[in-house]
Amino acid sequence: MINIAVAQSGGPTCAINASLVGVFRESLKVPEIDAIFGSINGIEGIINNHLVDMKSIINTNNDMELLRQTPSTVLGSCRYKLPDANEDEAVYRQIAETLTQRNIGAFFYIGGNDSMDTVNKLSAYFAEHELNIKVIGIPKTIDNDLCITDHTPGFGSAAKYVATTMHEITRDSIVYSIPSVTIVEIMGRHAGWLTASSAVLHAMGETAPHLVYVPEVSFSEEGFLADVRQEMSKHKAVIIAVSEGIAVPDGVQSGVVDNFGHKYLSGIGKYLEDIVRTKIGCKVRSIELNVMQRCSSHLGSKTDIDEAESIGAAGVRCALSGETGKVMVFRRVADVPYTVVIETAEAADIANREKFLPRDYINSAGNNITDTALSYFMPLIQGDLNLITENGIPKHFAIHESVLR
Ligand code: F6P
Repeated sequence: MINIAVAQSGGPTCAINASLVGVFRESLKVPEIDAIFGSINGIEGIINNHLVDMKSIINTNNDMELLRQTPSTVLGSCRYKLPDANEDEAVYRQIAETLTQRNIGAFFYIGGNDSMDTVNKLSAYFAEHELNIKVIGIPKTIDNDLCITDHTPGFGSAAKYVATTMHEITRDSIVYSIPSVTIVEIMGRHAGWLTASSAVLHAMGETAPHLVYVPEVSFSEEGFLADVRQEMSKHKAVIIAVSEGIAVPDGVQSGVVDNFGHKYLSGIGKYLEDIVRTKIGCKVRSIELNVMQRCSSHLGSKTDIDEAESIGAAGVRCALSGETGKVMVFRRVADVPYTVVIETAEAADIANREKFLPRDYINSAGNNITDTALSYFMPLIQGDLNLITENGIPKHFAIHESVLR
């Protein structure tokens, strides 16, 4: 008999808890697995020996259904960067001690490219010290910027929210007779996947978003103003999608940096709003979708949530087959009918790397998205969650605050 541990890391998404359910539900089916521990605040919980018995928290099928539809990370999260083992081994010894003390034979880390660095480093350390603890990464991020995998759990739901919100903003923006510009700031650190996904509206006959700016294309204020003027000559209300990560002068975005050296990017929408107001002088509004795009499970994609659960379950089977240092990935077989298979990749090939929008997803002017991209995005946003509600509001599963402290 072995015990297992699971943790969640990085920024919230709608699908991380569904992957946790995947790990949990699959583990219940395996007679060799006894306790299922949840680590509080990602790897920090293992370091601090702050683990909870998941079987005492998730008691019924109804709990699992609620957890599946609950956004964010029910076990809390972290942005913790493991030092290199040869520079500072103390933290590795601490992790190994917690895991061996509790007879944990497999550790599942649900996270993005930074978290896969932890999977890579830990699996290498355990192998080197002949500790039989398997470490498997389960991908997630709204940024969709993990290499090798076709897409990441959490992205489809965020994309669906962004496109739906953009659709609603479009309806709102066109009511007056005066010309206007609306700028929507969308998350995505260095890659424009989520911003680009707003263009799925084109497949519904919308002309909006009329302009789409992603970090993969260099940005100039002059080019932007010329684009806006041109679109204003064609449309009364111009709707613009802009990625938080486009390169703008220093000082526009927040200067705060996290443990991985990533800057908090926020403020580009306001910056462009000011430029339009000063240089063009029309009615202009900027909207920052901010954290709402990460936790908007009321608009979750069923495809996304189902896949998130499946890839969590596949992670358990992978560890039981003896693998370690692997990340579960999706390989797309076809767009129509949409088919994906789950495979594994080396954590070392995913850790700390980023996947960018292919050039043929961006138009030649670098200010909008092509139809090729739409065929990629479309399957990921399909299907609605049959949400359990209370007072008409989607219900969430929560662990008591005292357990998390
Ligand atoms: O999880 C990815 C991401 O949402 C990025 O798009 C964003 O820039 C960043 O996280 C924000 O980080 P935090 O959760 O630390 O505010």
